[in-house]
Amino acid sequence: MAFEAFRYDGKRVLVVGGATGMGAATAALVQEAGAEVVVMDHAEVTLPGVKSIALDLRDRDGIDAAVAECGGPVHALFSCAGVADGTPGIEKINFIGHRHLIDRLLDGGMLPRGSAIGMISSAAGLGWEANLPQVLEFLDTPDFDSAVAWIEANQKADYMWSKQAICGYVARQAFPLLQQGIRINAILPGPTDTPLAQANADMWLGFGTDYRGETGIEPSTPMEQAAPLVFLCSAAASYITGITMITDAGYISSGITESFPAAKPVADFLYGRY
Ligand SMILES: NC(=O)c1ccc[n+]([C@@H]2O[C@H](COP(=O)([O-])OP(=O)(O)OC[C@H]3O[C@@H](n4cnc5c(N)ncnc54)[C@H](O)[C@@H]3O)[C@@H](O)[C@H]2O)c1
Repeated sequence: MAFEAFRYDGKRVLVVGGATGMGAATAALVQEAGAEVVVMDHAEVTLPGVKSIALDLRDRDGIDAAVAECGGPVHALFSCAGVADGTPGIEKINFIGHRHLIDRLLDGGMLPRGSAIGMISSAAGLGWEANLPQVLEFLDTPDFDSAVAWIEANQKADYMWSKQAICGYVARQAFPLLQQGIRINAILPGPTDTPLAQANADMWLGFGTDYRGETGIEPSTPMEQAAPLVFLCSAAASYITGITMITDAGYISSGITESFPAAKPVADFLYGRY
């Protein structure tokens, strides 16, 4: 395989939630790698040279309009937008809206064979396997409105659930999407210095401070998360699908194995192993 497989020349890329943070870093990186880039966001997009489309993931019809404005083909879709607990409509922004957008792209035949989807979950989503029956029950909801109704009925409008849903969705969709020649993966970033993390700094950037202190590292930069995400949607990752890749500098692994014992209870809690 030539190194070309890591590049995006001749590809059209859609970044959802690409105004700031990891999405913005992803948009900049794929652009540098040769892609034509479309960014959808409800905030202003400042990266020069990209087509910008206004989108609020809470608005089902607005998603349909944004997809129509974008058109196809989309060779790589990066589903990056996300918000923290306390934001009204979190269940739509973090998962249901992304799934609806993917469904519209599929319905429109806009994701050709060889295309790939890269989502951003979180360590907060690690418990998806422990909760698999309920996660699958939620994923069985066929569309935007039924998913919203399920969340309301089950009181699941929270960050952890939205990220578990992403992990379960990625795992479950690998097979049917691959039958159409499409791959899907996600990253689970550790603390990353973005506007979202800064707005919730105590919890988001406080997480893992002890581990970073003892390893001499800083919180991740947005670009350190964009790079693996961009790899996963490149042709270089053509045999990788259905994975939720932990990109946290080894914190969770060190907790599971107790090489860094302080992370053990955190890993146990996140995996749902009480
Ligand atoms: N920063 C971290 O420490 C961290 C850790 C793990 C996972 N994550 C996840 O990473 C992803 C990216 O977050 P980030 O940290 O780069 O934050 P960010 O706030 O910089 O980026 C999120 C983007 O989503 C957009 N967005 C928010 N609400 C929207 C809506 N209703 N419709 C359309 N776009 C909307 C924002 O305008 C922004 O551009 C999120 O899914 C977040 O949950 C972040």
